[in-house]
Amino acid sequence: MRKDDFSRRLMRENQLHVNDLIYPCFVLEGNKQREAVTSMPGVERLSIDLLLKEAETIQTLGVPMMALFPVTASEKKSLDAAEAYNPEGLAQRAVRALRSEFPELGIMTDVALDPFTTHGQDGLIDDDGYIINDETVEVLIKQALSHAEAGAQVVAPSDMMDGRIGAIREALEFNGHIHTRIMAYSAKYASSFYGPFRDAVGSASNLAGGNKYGYQMDPANSDEALHEVALDIQEGADMVMVKPGMPYLDVLYRVKHTFQKPTFVYQVSGEYAMLKAAVLNGWLSDDAVMESLLAFKRAGADGILTYFAKDIAQQLKA
Ligand code: PBG
Repeated sequence: MRKDDFSRRLMRENQLHVNDLIYPCFVLEGNKQREAVTSMPGVERLSIDLLLKEAETIQTLGVPMMALFPVTASEKKSLDAAEAYNPEGLAQRAVRALRSEFPELGIMTDVALDPFTTHGQDGLIDDDGYIINDETVEVLIKQALSHAEAGAQVVAPSDMMDGRIGAIREALEFNGHIHTRIMAYSAKYASSFYGPFRDAVGSASNLAGGNKYGYQMDPANSDEALHEVALDIQEGADMVMVKPGMPYLDVLYRVKHTFQKPTFVYQVSGEYAMLKAAVLNGWLSDDAVMESLLAFKRAGADGILTYFAKDIAQQLKA
């Protein structure tokens, strides 16, 4: 059966399709601004005008959705993270621009406070530096509403506070955003693989050696992931996510097979950096990228957030 291409194709159990891809993008202030992310070769931060061009490419390739991550100027960061819900904030403006130019393209936003806090944590802190859950959820609600009002079809809380999915769902309903979908970063681990992302959005220096162990999950656990996913589904999540990806395929498998919900996986910045560095150095063939994405499908992912989305979509089309 493995001898010929025809029989290999006939017995192939899983296939990567362009419909499986979500493309994460970093957004900059200004006009005609383009900055390379040093720790993620090939990834750039783009101002909204250039982001629109990128969106056109993405839509033409058939990728269903983009995920936006704004780069916040340090003078806009504060202890109360008020910029997170500024209707004229960068994320909100980017969503409006994309929705008006490309009404069919899915736009997903990140709901978390880390790009907006002076300390780089995803939530508000008390005098001891402890992340205060319930006060943070109040701000996340405002942030999610501002994204929905700007036109985001999907909001994605990545903060790992308790009870935020239910609270955001209720606020969306109450304000008439009955179609806004919630993708919950349900099983998000306190991972060292987010380093390049924190460089990309400029939160690494704010975090300054701090960590997120107080709210993101312990990489040692997987039953706990099922518990987290169950809570988010009960609170009204439409889609759940496991993050990072490759080191957590077992978690992805368990989540999909336990709940049969639309389940997503995030191939995070550190995974991208590792693969890209090895490919650029000639240490790995770039087939490794496709293999990594196919592995997510095999483990049960319905969709994959990956910085390779554009390249892979081009490859799938060829
Ligand atoms: C913000 C957020 C992070 C990522 C997505 N949303 C960073 C973090 O939690 O520190 C990481 C994505 C990546 O590494 O590609 N809460």
